[in-house]
Amino acid sequence: MGLYSETIFPWLLDRALGHPNIMRRRQALVSGASGAVLEIGFGSGATLPFYDPAQVTSLTVVEPSEGMNRRAAAQLANSPVPITSVPGAGERLPFGDAGFDTVVCCLTLCSVSDVGQVLAEVRRVLKPGGRFLFLEHVLSDDPERQRWQQRLNPIQRVVGVGCNLNRPSAELVRAAGFVLEPMPAKEVEWAFGALKHLTPLVMGSAVRV
Ligand SMILES: C[S@@+](CC[C@H](N)C(=O)[O-])C[C@H]1O[C@@H](n2cnc3c(N)ncnc32)[C@H](O)[C@@H]1O
Repeated sequence: MGLYSETIFPWLLDRALGHPNIMRRRQALVSGASGAVLEIGFGSGATLPFYDPAQVTSLTVVEPSEGMNRRAAAQLANSPVPITSVPGAGERLPFGDAGFDTVVCCLTLCSVSDVGQVLAEVRRVLKPGGRFLFLEHVLSDDPERQRWQQRLNPIQRVVGVGCNLNRPSAELVRAAGFVLEPMPAKEVEWAFGALKHLTPLVMGSAVRV
């Protein structure tokens, strides 16, 4: 898996997720970030240009993949905000309690090994009243589409290096003790063909109480 997961997949992902439909949504997501911000699963840094220096005082990014970190390195010098990159995983964040005003996850909860543990860590490092902003592809509401998501999930996990089609991420955020702000409906228009039915998107903001 080394060559695929650390070199080919990061390259493929930049092409697949560099689509204007996704870039527009990344921009909308990150426009809500303010203060001391942590992004988990930074990938190659596709959200970076959208952080607003008028709102964001510091940005800390965490990413476990060496291949992704290699691709992101080129971007760090052009960061619009002061940035610190920390290799690591969302399940064990190397930060103290209540140090961040905003935590961002963009298309990452689908890929982490233990989503409950990541959300517990997000909650721990957020200040009370802080915001968790997420953009994720999730389990469909439609039973027939759900069946296809379940059937194809084992293949997706291999091709997508641990990515799952069947996570009800917004519900998991609520179950982790966050208060979800009203969310737009799940969207499918961002993708094309069968893919759109397999990857409905949710964008949400949740308050750490
Ligand atoms: C689909 S990519 C999205 C990358 C980036 N956020 C973006 O918008 O393009 C998922 C990312 O989550 C990272 N990831 C996987 N497991 C993780 C974990 N346990 N903790 C943090 N990030 C993880 C992957 O290495 C990958 O960079």
